[in-house]
Amino acid sequence: MTVLVFLDPAHDDGRIVDASQPQLMATDLGATRGDGLFESLLAVDGAPRKLEAHLSRLAASAAALELTVPDAGAWRRAISTGLREFTAAEPDRSSAVVKLLATRGVEGADQATAWVQVNPVPAATLAQREAGLRVLFLERGYDSTVAQRAPWLLMGAKTLSYAVNMAAVRHAKAHGADDVIFTSSDGKVLEGPTSTVLLAHDRDGQKTLMTPQLESGILAGTSQSALFAAAKEQGWELGYGPLEPHHLHEADAVWLISSIRLLAPVISLDGQELRTSATLTAELTELVDRFV
Ligand SMILES: Cc1ncc(COP(=O)(O)O)c(C=O)c1O
Repeated sequence: MTVLVFLDPAHDDGRIVDASQPQLMATDLGATRGDGLFESLLAVDGAPRKLEAHLSRLAASAAALELTVPDAGAWRRAISTGLREFTAAEPDRSSAVVKLLATRGVEGADQATAWVQVNPVPAATLAQREAGLRVLFLERGYDSTVAQRAPWLLMGAKTLSYAVNMAAVRHAKAHGADDVIFTSSDGKVLEGPTSTVLLAHDRDGQKTLMTPQLESGILAGTSQSALFAAAKEQGWELGYGPLEPHHLHEADAVWLISSIRLLAPVISLDGQELRTSATLTAELTELVDRFV
């Protein structure tokens, strides 16, 4: 079941289209160059979660791409239309994936193409939360300071050019793993292809939650940010890298976190078993549940 709603100045609440029919021009620069941006967010009981954070990251990606996209109000209305349509068609599903997409538009037209797509949460995604992840380190090939030196690489923007990220996940699957953590050429831990890295220590009751530093050219995770805010209120100490692979091997637990899969424990790294903690996972999952 896919619901599609195009953002269209002639339709205030968005224009619902038939997802089984072609809707995009073959000359759209999103299709021909991967030139555009997206967001993926979770909706529960018909309401989008962390919407402000996703809309503000979408605006930051648009600024990095120098792309003019519809305003937040138009996105909100199209999301409401999409979720209403989805709930009417799938009343028994409590959650949905909402994707916001914008491209540079049809060649020569100088107007973004923008739409909202709503789908069920894939069963495989839900299963990974429970089963945990076998992860491989893969090098990304850039050093951890490249984002500041080379803004044209669009590091930290959520662009449509995710072919490399998807290739990394296929590499993991072909080598008996589930997912990947990228490392920089100077040996720093970066992020997953679709997730943020978290690790925790519990030293005599003082719990610390850490994530790689944002300046290393990674995407600012909305889930990591919301979890850090909730953990801080509960007395956790917070840390922002730099992290190296040995820090993950030494941690009391490691997770990948993102908006749809949420918090998934990493159970092995490069085939080596990691420490996991059912207690810490339960405690953090409870904090995640508060913002989903
Ligand atoms: C590269 C990358 N890093 C991190 C994340 C996690 O971000 P969020 O928690 O906002 O979903 C994503 C999400 O898809 C991602 O694509």
